[in-house]
Amino acid sequence: MNKAVGNEVVAYRVQGRIARIAIDNPPVNALSQAVRAGLKHAVEAAQADSSVAAIVLICEGRTFFAGADIREFAKPPQDPRLVDVILCIEQCTKPVVAAIHGTALGGGLEVALGCHFRIADAGARLGLPEVKLGLLPGAGGTQRLPRLVGLKAALDMVIEGNPVPARKALEMGLVDELAEGDLGAAAQALAERIADQGLDLRRTSRLPAPPMDEQWFAEVEQHVRKRKRGYEAPLRCIDAVRAALSLPFEEGMATERELFAALKASPQSRALRHAFFAEREAGKLPFSAPARRIERAAVIGAGTMGGGIAMCFANAGIAVQLLEKDEERLRQGLARIQANYDGSARRGRLTREAVAERMALIHGTTLFEDLHEADIVIEAVFEDMAVKHEVFRELDRICKPGAILASNTSYLDIDAIASATQRPQDVVGMHFFSPANVMRLLENVRGPRTSESVCASVMELGRRLGKVAVLVGSCDGFVGNRMLSKRTRESYFLLQEGATPYQVDRVLHGFGFPMGPFAMADLAGLDVGWRNRQGRLASLTPRERDCDILDRMVAVNRLGQKTGGGFYEYDADRKAQPSAQAEAIVAEHCAQSGIRRRDISDQEILERCLYPMINEAAYILEEGVAARASDIDVVWLNGYGFPAYRGGPLCYADQIGLDTVLEGLRKYEAEHGSIYWRPADLLVRLAESGRGFHDMAS
Ligand code: 3HC
Ligand code: NAI
Repeated sequence: MNKAVGNEVVAYRVQGRIARIAIDNPPVNALSQAVRAGLKHAVEAAQADSSVAAIVLICEGRTFFAGADIREFAKPPQDPRLVDVILCIEQCTKPVVAAIHGTALGGGLEVALGCHFRIADAGARLGLPEVKLGLLPGAGGTQRLPRLVGLKAALDMVIEGNPVPARKALEMGLVDELAEGDLGAAAQALAERIADQGLDLRRTSRLPAPPMDEQWFAEVEQHVRKRKRGYEAPLRCIDAVRAALSLPFEEGMATERELFAALKASPQSRALRHAFFAEREAGKLPFSAPARRIERAAVIGAGTMGGGIAMCFANAGIAVQLLEKDEERLRQGLARIQANYDGSARRGRLTREAVAERMALIHGTTLFEDLHEADIVIEAVFEDMAVKHEVFRELDRICKPGAILASNTSYLDIDAIASATQRPQDVVGMHFFSPANVMRLLENVRGPRTSESVCASVMELGRRLGKVAVLVGSCDGFVGNRMLSKRTRESYFLLQEGATPYQVDRVLHGFGFPMGPFAMADLAGLDVGWRNRQGRLASLTPRERDCDILDRMVAVNRLGQKTGGGFYEYDADRKAQPSAQAEAIVAEHCAQSGIRRRDISDQEILERCLYPMINEAAYILEEGVAARASDIDVVWLNGYGFPAYRGGPLCYADQIGLDTVLEGLRKYEAEHGSIYWRPADLLVRLAESGRGFHDMAS
């Protein structure tokens, strides 16, 4: 090893005629300043060394470069810039072979594109995921990739950000060879072969750009505007690739650089980068405890949620028993699962064999005794404490010691559920979201007596099931539904005061939610919210009780999409139209309660829907129900369709400024009373000291 050339993260060694540059910057070989400097220096050394005929560029550890070091984006840029390192590689007069394993992502793939040859491990994946961080590839990816793989394949990779597997990369011409066996040895052999044969160096930037196709670009742009509504980066990706086709390489690079710099500084990219790190933080527990082994699972209740949860286990290859009250309900539940998988097979998302394998992992039963070997049981029966108690008493009797007993309850107190057992330390909430096999969020709820090892186990299980798991404390509605209930309350008050369901939904849709509260209520079924409301009437304020719009809708059987009408009218294709009848119901309620209706601005609607949620989140943090502000963002991003480019409710609050939020809370407090609008002490403290939620740790 030549110590004089390498640095702490880049090793340089010459073996025969081949220089091997090996990067070791755990955990994912991000292209930090030290990596860039070491890499450039090593390439220059190989260039200068007359005994070197070819160069292999390889990474140690679990992956090839996972991209630029995202943590550096918040700091001023440091030399050498990645574009210059890549240019140095590409201009080297000796062949450079990239040896790719794990994931070659973002700047990592851009480095590989600057090399003259690429060989990949068969399990490798290659991609440009920058768009998911609100960016575009900023080190030549938008300029080199179309020259190498053609316009359509390149634009797809840049706009979607999804990696392609090595075999597909080979077919596309993105890599030249797949390695059989040891990647390092295969790359060394390829480098020897290239040196022996004196093959021409293939500089991607010198390949001709594909011809311009303006009409196709216009179509793609229109499609992207619709499908990625509100997102800025995909449109700028299109602009950058367009430049690759219409400008000489150097000018295209300059355009890419400008677009990248503007995106990097944009609130959207800052929000998406926040979301990236927030998701990873959420998995870190404030204690260390061993996770229990989970090989056999069981789910109680084969309804909407139970069926979806059973599918999550089967999809992860974990055997699961599904228990129902009787054979008929069990049969119906299993049939719904089968139909769901069949739908995926029809759409080409699963093979028939995969469907059969997954169904074979789900075993139906009606006998609690069958669950005695389960490592975990997740209860998903009716939301009724008496029914939950009955189930947990049975589980306590049947389950083996150490089995985890989880409830999928949406609102109920975990400790009250646990009190039906002699083992409250093993009882935990696992709040999946509907549809459970699709939604990424898993709110794991720790009761006051739940043990650390049970918490660690359900967090680990969440990862195995492909979920984003967040650990929260027990309270009414936990984090997500507790905040949602404040938005729901205000949205009904807004109707009373003069807004229409359509206006409220339009404002929240415009903000970036996939749908507003009334369209969402119609989708879930108004009877669901109504039943919840009936269970709480005693604890409602007089104004909440009097605001009986939901009761009136249910009384005339306007239950939403399932009855063809709720707050909207639906045609056969479920296309929504504002409903005169629903608006008449609202007007009638207002006339009877003597409320004078007025014009309400979009801004007021936005503030009255979002600020109470932000304020409630501050109470949640004060009470320690959530450990971190970023956990609350993760819940809303993954469970409630909060627009990712706004980074979650608390990231959004920080971006508009907590002083602005506080001013709004105080204004509405003066108008509508402290009972709904008293600002949380935490929020006041942060706002008055000029800080945000995400400065709390510092
Ligand atoms: N920069 C800095 N840190 C990174 C990083 C990056 N590009 N990628 C991952 N990390 C960190 C994570 O934050 C995490 O840190 P932690 O342990 O302190 O929480 C650690 O590496 C491990 O990450 P994961 O938990 O995500 O590990 P996985 O094995 O599940 O996934 C991965 C690995 C697929 C590489 C995933 O981390 C990933 O997708 N990373 C981001 C890749 C990316 O977006 N690259 C593009 C960056 S932008 C760019 O390159 C711009 C260029 O065009 C100029
Ligand atoms: P559901 O009504 O669709 O299904 C409940 C199932 O449990 C029924 O099939 C019923 O036969 C079965 N069941 C009832 N008592 C049983 C018993 N003693 N033994 C075995 N099976 C029994 O209800 P859904 O919507 O699936 O809700 C279940 C739980 O999940 C509730 O606690 C709910 O609050 C929660 N939840 C619901 C969400 C939703 O969107 N539907 C989202 C998140 C949580």
